[in-house]
Amino acid sequence: MSARTALALKGVTKNFGRAEIIRGVDLEIRENERHVVIGPNGAGKSTLFHLISGRLQASSGSIQLFGREIDGLPPHRINRMGLSRSFQVTNLFQNMTVMENLRCALLWSQGHKYAFWKRVTSQQGVTQRAEELLERLHLSEKRDVPASLLSYAEQRALEIGATIASGAQVLLLDEPTAGMSRTEADDMVELIREITTDCTLVLVEHDLGVVFNLADRISVLVYGEIIASDTPEAVRANAAVQEAYLGTEAH
Ligand SMILES: Nc1ncnc2c1ncn2[C@@H]1O[C@H](COP(=O)(O)OP(=O)(O)O)[C@@H](O)[C@H]1O
Ligand SMILES: [Mg+2]
Repeated sequence: MSARTALALKGVTKNFGRAEIIRGVDLEIRENERHVVIGPNGAGKSTLFHLISGRLQASSGSIQLFGREIDGLPPHRINRMGLSRSFQVTNLFQNMTVMENLRCALLWSQGHKYAFWKRVTSQQGVTQRAEELLERLHLSEKRDVPASLLSYAEQRALEIGATIASGAQVLLLDEPTAGMSRTEADDMVELIREITTDCTLVLVEHDLGVVFNLADRISVLVYGEIIASDTPEAVRANAAVQEAYLGTEAH
């Protein structure tokens, strides 16, 4: 794991009217870390994600991406700085095939970096990278199938693949296994693990079972506060976490 900090939140709060939903969150996520935020329903996990992705602005505090303040910037600027939120930022082109979707995301990531005389070479590179991604996504057999005809789980896999292909360095995933069967969810977690070897992952999850094998570190959010941020083993053994998280979960 790199020593560089990918994402740093300091004293972040968010109020909706008089309701304090995020109550002073400090969080540091290192580059290439897989960090999972868990917490009961209504704890503020999605709100925290909206603050990081720029969809919402914090009431106070600071949010930095690779050392640059991002709180208050619009989502597309934060996205261009390397942070992607899947299932919202990357919408698939439903009428395009799996391969076309990946090629499109890869071309997008190259933007104007390539001068026109390099275009032919870069196109070949794009095709090769798209083929590699297809394999990593286990979608090689669906190469020429329109995105609209994929299963739900396959569409989500393709969305994550397209997000990575479009150049995301930090990937935010909010409950990526929601609405999936146990088997689909396990496959999805395995896929997320495989595909995020070179990027920083921040994943929000409600289902504890999903995350213990994936996370390098886990933060536990309860009523807008992080009550623990540690290795999976330490979090699992933490009595306060068990009481607060499982206790709240009960109702
Ligand atoms: N735009 C909003 N306006 C008012 N209250 C909100 C808004 N968004 C979320 N909330 C409230 O904030 C709390 C946390 O919601 P959320 O972040 O979605 O929790 P989680 O993702 O952990 O389930 C909930 O009580 C929810 O009703
Ligand atoms: Mg949520």
